[in-house]
Amino acid sequence: MTFSDIELAALAEVLEEFTGLVHDETRRDSLAFAAAQCMASADIPRVSAYLELLRSPEGAEERQRLIDAVTIQETHFFRNPPQIRALRTHVLPELLRAARSADRPLQVWSAGCSTGEEPYTVAMLVRELLPNATPDQVRILGTDIARSALEAAREARYGLRAVQMAEPVDLARWFRRDGEWFVVRDEIRELVEFRLHNLVSDDPPFDRDGVDLLLCRNVTIYFRRETTKALVRRFHEVLRDGGYLFLGHAETLWRINDEFNLVSLGDAFVYRKVDGRSAGERRHVLAQRRIGADPVVVERRKRPERRQARPERRHGRSSISVAAPRPRPASADAHLAEARAALATGRYGDAVRAATAAARVEPLLVDAHVITGEALVNLGRDDEAISELRQAVYLDPDHAPAHLLLAGALARIGDAVAAGQAYRAAAATVRRLPPERVSEFFAGRDPEELAAVCVSLAQQAERTAARQRRSAR
Ligand SMILES: C[S@@+](CC[C@H](N)C(=O)[O-])C[C@H]1O[C@@H](n2cnc3c(N)ncnc32)[C@H](O)[C@@H]1O
Repeated sequence: MTFSDIELAALAEVLEEFTGLVHDETRRDSLAFAAAQCMASADIPRVSAYLELLRSPEGAEERQRLIDAVTIQETHFFRNPPQIRALRTHVLPELLRAARSADRPLQVWSAGCSTGEEPYTVAMLVRELLPNATPDQVRILGTDIARSALEAAREARYGLRAVQMAEPVDLARWFRRDGEWFVVRDEIRELVEFRLHNLVSDDPPFDRDGVDLLLCRNVTIYFRRETTKALVRRFHEVLRDGGYLFLGHAETLWRINDEFNLVSLGDAFVYRKVDGRSAGERRHVLAQRRIGADPVVVERRKRPERRQARPERRHGRSSISVAAPRPRPASADAHLAEARAALATGRYGDAVRAATAAARVEPLLVDAHVITGEALVNLGRDDEAISELRQAVYLDPDHAPAHLLLAGALARIGDAVAAGQAYRAAAATVRRLPPERVSEFFAGRDPEELAAVCVSLAQQAERTAARQRRSAR
């Protein structure tokens, strides 16, 4: 089955209208594949007839089938370890305490929950803190537009890939084995409810000011900015004052909404609905930069020149001759694009493989080392991440995110001295960055406040290092 460009554009338009999902040129092949399969199983050979059905009120069932086929349902348990640590150590203890003292249930919404790993992970973290929690005390709702994903979520039976990020202790505690399957235990399932829900067109499934914690991670990546803006306004309405909003790696509220604070919790950045009562006390809180009517236009810059110049500087030459940028081999770019996409969708193993392949083609490619490092951090492989991130900051000493990732990894393996130095380097580089690189690296974050957080983390690491020295004596 082949589609003309016009037919594909029409299919993409219908899908965007119903789901908000944009299928640009790079995603048209997967759209064509899914549509061809759906048309074959519905026995509709003509694209015009299929489009007509999709657009008509009678086409609801067929639309659902196509949505199930085109949505990217990639997810896994304990995804994004820095955010999981923030939930475990800061967010859930605080929210559970607040809910208990107000004698009301804790309400969590996992919006775009796919096959259920995200809301079940939250339930596991809640059970850790409150082993006897009942569904009256804790309500976790997972919603998604894909019916097939929700069916899998309700079945709660997962393969090895879905649980790759779970610690052995969590696997033993929260899953029972059934042959090769990992089945979520009933005590977790009873806290989670699933519902078919379209984030673009349906009313939110909670009352105003009802939600304490809202996770919408890796969902809006394929939405237009206007779609995300409208969605985040609805999120703002249903969140309580001080309620938390967790987005995915590649998502930001920059130029989307300025009614949230960006909060640094350990090595995670999360958003928090501005709470009128505590607006004056902002420790470790990065105020979301207000974007006026005249937004800054951000251009992504490529930096091959710097990579060419560095090794010469290393050999102590006083005058650096900057070689004309060598065109990067096409396959390095292709591997890098693949690595970025894998990182953005949480396929960390794939991101490591693709970024490593890019570095093999072009060893001085800074982004390849940064992506490998970030993916390894997410896989909990801090030791290996450190080596990649060290290469990245050697090749590009101004790469602030690489310094920041390196600092976090060093702190976690207990090398407090090196972590302190890396946090100081992160602070210095953030301050030195030209505005376009601040936007490129830390969209929406104020460099001064970000630098202040780095300094404070450096001081924390230095205090730990001092304690380690005293106890070694
Ligand atoms: C990549 S998964 C993210 C799963 C999980 N939040 C995570 O980060 O691991 C994205 C999910 O968003 C859902 N989605 C996309 N558009 C949606 C919409 N308009 N309404 C509700 N869910 C949507 C997809 O069906 C898919 O399951």
